[in-house]
Amino acid sequence: MRTVTFANGDRMPLLGLGTWKSAPGEVGAAVREAIRLGYRHIDCASVYANEPEVGEAIRGAIAAGEVTREELWITSKLWCNAHGQANVEPALRRSLGDLGLEWLDLYLVHWPVPIRPGVAFPGSGDDLLPPAAVPLTDTWQGMEAVLDLGLTHHIGVSNFSSRKLQQVLASARRQPEVNQVERHPLLQQPQLLADCAAAGVHITAYSPLGSGDRPAALKGADEPVLLENPVISAIAAEHGCSPAQVLIAWHLQSGISTIPKSVSPARLQQNLAAADLELSPSDLERIAGLDQHRRLVDGSFWLLEGSPWSLQTLWDEP
Ligand code: A2P
Repeated sequence: MRTVTFANGDRMPLLGLGTWKSAPGEVGAAVREAIRLGYRHIDCASVYANEPEVGEAIRGAIAAGEVTREELWITSKLWCNAHGQANVEPALRRSLGDLGLEWLDLYLVHWPVPIRPGVAFPGSGDDLLPPAAVPLTDTWQGMEAVLDLGLTHHIGVSNFSSRKLQQVLASARRQPEVNQVERHPLLQQPQLLADCAAAGVHITAYSPLGSGDRPAALKGADEPVLLENPVISAIAAEHGCSPAQVLIAWHLQSGISTIPKSVSPARLQQNLAAADLELSPSDLERIAGLDQHRRLVDGSFWLLEGSPWSLQTLWDEP
C-alpha cells in the first residue's frame, strides 16, 4: 500500500476506509472486515455519530491479534460546535472516549464554520457564529495544544480553501499537515492541490465515488452519477475493473490519499484492490478532461436564513 510520509517519519496509508454515512449496526462489521482485508487507515468523525461502534470494532481487531494499534492510522474530526481554543481538548477527549483509544493519528478541523456550542446542526442562521467571533487561528491554537499533549500525533483541517489555510499557516506554531476536501474527476481542484503542495500540506480526497448514498437533503436536483460516468466506465471496461476502482486509483497514482466508504465486504475488497491498478497516461488525460469544478457537497447546508456565510465566503471562490 502506498503511503504519505509526514515530517516526523510517520506514514499514512493512502487508501483509507470512510465511515461517513455508515449506519450504526453496520459500521462495526464493515470496519472489522476492512481490517481483516488489510485496510490500516480508518477515517472517522464525531458528527458521523458512529464512533463508539467504530471503536469497538477497532479494539476487537486489536484484542483478537489481527492488528496492533501502532499499525493503524485513525483520523477523527472536530465538529463545528467545538471551535475555539478551549473547546478542542474536551471534544478530542470525547472522540477518544467514544472510540476507546488513547490517541489519534490525525485530528482535523471538520469545517471552517463555527456553530453555537451545544448545537449539533444549525436549525436557523442564528446557530451559526460569525467567522470573526471565533477566528480559525484561535481554534488552531487548541489543535496545537492537543498535539503538544500527545492526544493526536498529527493535526490538520478539512474543507479549507487555500485562503483559509493561509490564514492558519500565517500564525501557526505547528502547521496543518492535511487538508481533507471533496475531490473526484468532476472536482479536480488543481489550484488547491498546487497551493497545498507548495505549503507542504497533504490532500485527502473525500467523496471519491460521488457519495451517492448522501441524504436527499444534501443532493442537488440534477446531480451527475459519478460511478456511471461514461469516460470512467469506458476506462474501467478497458482495464477489466470497476468504475469505483478507476476513481480510487486516480487519486492514489498521484499521491493523494482517499477514503471510499463501503459497508459491503465485496466492495471493501474491490476498493482495496484498486491500489494495484495502474492507469495509463492516456487514461489520465481522459480523466483530466472531465473536470467541471462541480461540488457534490457544496456546503449549502450552512446557508440558512440569517447565516453569516455564503458559498462565496465559504469557498473563497467568485
Ligand atoms: P456501499 O456502502 O453499500 O458499498 P463515497 O465513498 O464517495 O462517499 O461513496 C460511498 C457510496 O459508494 C456508498 O453508497 C457505497 O455503498 C458505494 N460504493 C462503495 N464502494 C463501491 C464500489 N466498489 N462500487 C459501487 N459502489 C460502491
